[in-house]
Amino acid sequence: MEDYDEVYSFWQSVEGMGLSSADSREGMQTYLERNPGMSLLARDGGKIAGTVLCGHDGRRGYIHHLAVGEAYRGIKLGKTLVDSCIETFRKAGIHKCHIFIFIDNESGKEFWRSVDWEERNDVCLFSHDIDYPNY
Ligand SMILES: CC(C)(COP(=O)(O)OP(=O)(O)OC[C@H]1O[C@@H](n2cnc3c(N)ncnc32)[C@H](O)[C@@H]1OP(=O)(O)O)[C@@H](O)C(=O)NCCC(=O)NCCS
Repeated sequence: MEDYDEVYSFWQSVEGMGLSSADSREGMQTYLERNPGMSLLARDGGKIAGTVLCGHDGRRGYIHHLAVGEAYRGIKLGKTLVDSCIETFRKAGIHKCHIFIFIDNESGKEFWRSVDWEERNDVCLFSHDIDYPNY
């Protein structure tokens, strides 16, 4: 959490990144407490080079906010972060993991194809906003 402000600014600078209320300070605190020690922040000296949020619900693994700074792309940092998540899921006994990606994020999709993830055309995503009084 001590990196939160810096990481949030980094995410805001990354094309293809979808930020929401789940990425608020409180949201991130909850997420990291539920999935302790799984998410990664890569630094080059003091500078953020990449991030990944890694968590599971006991059934499936989910990777969010995979991002590599433009100066650090193409040197397998993204793949290294993903491989680390897969290892984390393996240790937790999780057999399958998923990512969500905006349908128009062509370059992001090329990355996932390059690292041999299966592109699914047999599922689509439905979402529901949960209302809170006074929110
Ligand atoms: C997608 C992203 C994380 C890739 O990070 P990266 O560190 O540059 O990727 P890597 O160097 O690990 O590349 C791994 C493989 O993917 C390929 N790849 C990566 N980006 C690619 C692209 N835009 N188009 C085609 N191939 C790509 C690499 O060539 C490499 O393939 P190889 O093993 O055959 O050589 C980075 O471009 C990024 O942060 N994009 C913006 C955020 C985003 O879209 N995130 C994904 C959405 S979940």
